[in-house]
Amino acid sequence: MTDPDLAVCITNTVRLTLGSSLHQHTAPETESGDDGAVVGQQTGNRRFHPAGHPFLVAFVVQLLVLAGQFLASLLLVHAGHHLVWQPLRFALIQGAASATLSFLLRQPIWWWWIHAGFPLAIWLAMRTTLPAWSYLLALLLLLPWYWHTFITRVPYYPSSLPVWQAVDRLLPSGPCRVLELGSGLGGFSLWLTEAHSGCEATGVEWSPMPWLISRVRSWRKGTAACFLRQDYRQMDWQPYDLVFAYLSPAAMPEMWQLARQRMRHGTVLVSYEFGIPGVPADRTIRIAGMREELYAWYI
Ligand SMILES: C[S@@+](CC[C@H](N)C(=O)[O-])C[C@H]1O[C@@H](n2cnc3c(N)ncnc32)[C@H](O)[C@@H]1O
Repeated sequence: MTDPDLAVCITNTVRLTLGSSLHQHTAPETESGDDGAVVGQQTGNRRFHPAGHPFLVAFVVQLLVLAGQFLASLLLVHAGHHLVWQPLRFALIQGAASATLSFLLRQPIWWWWIHAGFPLAIWLAMRTTLPAWSYLLALLLLLPWYWHTFITRVPYYPSSLPVWQAVDRLLPSGPCRVLELGSGLGGFSLWLTEAHSGCEATGVEWSPMPWLISRVRSWRKGTAACFLRQDYRQMDWQPYDLVFAYLSPAAMPEMWQLARQRMRHGTVLVSYEFGIPGVPADRTIRIAGMREELYAWYI
């Protein structure tokens, strides 16, 4: 069996293992009427594909290697070998084998490092004298920030004033409505509402903590910026003249499909830093002093 054959074989095994019990998390499919309004929604029923769920693949990889280690130990004991339990050796084998499997499954390079380091991190944690509840506390502190990040694959990191000013220059000078997909702490929508008179900015954020902070900031400033806590894939984008996104490469293909289905003719989709694979931007805007660019697509 050649290496690519082995990779395909392992991919199929993982897919079968996961595919039988899981359904893909899909965005609703929408249809547009002649006037561009969203006229209906239906839940997609696409087949599960592991490439869209790297965290599940990673989980199965670790489980498979763990099972392999136990099986190998049993066989060795059965063959008369005297095995001494060595946690560090166990963690090193677990990390190396998982990283190799991840490589064969063609997961991105950062997963190899995560696989290699994860068992060692557990080994280190077991050697510390931290009380068990401290791990629960860390989880509870991180959860409101990262929430569905394992599904969306878009963590929080902020854009900055020069980016917001460049987006503002794409807007007409009069009244307008702007939607910010994944509004984080609300910086862009808050700033735009104050800087652009007549502009109504709506930020939508799925993670509870950033959303709560943006709500409090809006309330304290007394601005008209509106912040919704929900998945932007589940909402209507039709009323907005400009949709701004600062997400991640993983989110871009689906976001483009949604933009085509939900945005009105004559509106503009703007993404900071991340382009859409296979869809050249109508405008690429350089921002002074910044390496990353702003991309705009006219719908
Ligand atoms: C890179 S941050 C950008 C924050 C902000 N837009 C800015 O420019 O500073 C992306 C944000 O999108 C949020 N997010 C990711 N997927 C989302 C979804 N499907 N619905 C709502 N928010 C989402 C994340 O929680 C994160 O806070």
